[in-house]
Amino acid sequence: MFELKVEDFGFNGEGIVHINGKVGFVKYVLLGEKILAEVLKENSRYYVLQLKEVLSKNKFRVNPLCPYFGKCGGCDFQHISYKKEIEIKKEILSRQLAKIGIKTNIICSASDEYFYRNKIRLYPSSQGLGYHTDSKIITIETCKIARPFIDENIKAVNDFSKPYLNIINYVEIRTDDKKILINFFVKERFNANFEELSKNIKCNHGIYQTVNNKSFHCYGESSLEYSQELKIKPTSFSQINNKIAISLYRRLCEIVKDKVVANCYSGAGLLSLQMLQSGAKQVYGIELGLSEHLDAQELKNKTKLNSLINLKGDCAKVLPKISRKIDLIVVDPPRAGCDNLVIEAIKDSSAKEMVYISCNHATFARDLKRLENYSLERIELFDMFPKTANFEIFAYLRRK
Ligand SMILES: C[S@@+](CC[C@H](N)C(=O)[O-])C[C@H]1O[C@@H](n2cnc3c(N)ncnc32)[C@H](O)[C@@H]1O
Repeated sequence: MFELKVEDFGFNGEGIVHINGKVGFVKYVLLGEKILAEVLKENSRYYVLQLKEVLSKNKFRVNPLCPYFGKCGGCDFQHISYKKEIEIKKEILSRQLAKIGIKTNIICSASDEYFYRNKIRLYPSSQGLGYHTDSKIITIETCKIARPFIDENIKAVNDFSKPYLNIINYVEIRTDDKKILINFFVKERFNANFEELSKNIKCNHGIYQTVNNKSFHCYGESSLEYSQELKIKPTSFSQINNKIAISLYRRLCEIVKDKVVANCYSGAGLLSLQMLQSGAKQVYGIELGLSEHLDAQELKNKTKLNSLINLKGDCAKVLPKISRKIDLIVVDPPRAGCDNLVIEAIKDSSAKEMVYISCNHATFARDLKRLENYSLERIELFDMFPKTANFEIFAYLRRK
């Protein structure tokens, strides 16, 4: 056991300490705190430590809302006041930009601190369903960052799943705030009395099972509605914090009027739709996922928006092939960021403007550096994932 002082924080919000001249990382602490911690892992370069006791508290330390905080591996920041959490996130982004030589003002949009997540994924262990830590599954019956419809039904889903834990890969519960969809991702189809589960669910709901990427509707409601026009399949991507997604999309829609837009990594099409409703001349939505592409096509058919062109495929291959002159390129890639071919296609394009939406500050900074013929004009932090060390970035760039 070591008595240590937290000297700084790292890019994942973890505390940084030093032991015998070697750096150590410890979660759930704040700057300046004196702590007792135990070594979990050691190698030639660093230690990973587990917090055992806080001996002197930082004034921004607060009591976590959730009984599983620090155990389930989900949240990083429930011990920090929300105001301080935002400051830390801004500082992390600012340091990331400094590494690539950019010093700029960062604007920030905060979220509801708790009960914002519209989707959770639970994994099986011998005890029941729960969240993944680095080494094990911690069974849960509540999750205070999940939307209330999800939170209040976790226990019922968990109780129902107990006889089927050996065939369940994972279970997703999603909500559009009108209902929940429960989707069992299983090794093989199973026969169960879904009416039993249904009786114990406290809101409107639908039940699916998915085997090898094929979903089967088992009970009740069948899709999620993210807007009047957009219904999405239970396997399609959607942003997990509705309020923040809406403000993020709104920010983008301010700059699309009369423009031809390439919307790369376009998902189920909600952003494409909103850009067209905000006056974009034409939107090319490029999406690799079949389920998302089909949702976007359904959206196009329903809204009769001829100016929406949904292209299914890898952005790296599809973007360079668009022959029409593009005014604005939007990218919203997964955490791995943009493929080098996408970066090259953007650099070679006619687009005078681009927007980079990112959920990973490290790959964002890497890609920004590679986009050397664009300059960063504006950057905003949207706190899509409160209580975790993650956040969303909105960056507006102009061709030099
Ligand atoms: C972060 S999500 C953004 C979705 C959309 N912009 C939204 O707000 O709902 C990333 C999307 O990119 C898709 N995707 C992943 N790799 C891709 C690739 N190489 N080319 C095209 N789409 C890809 C995923 O299926 C997912 O829908």
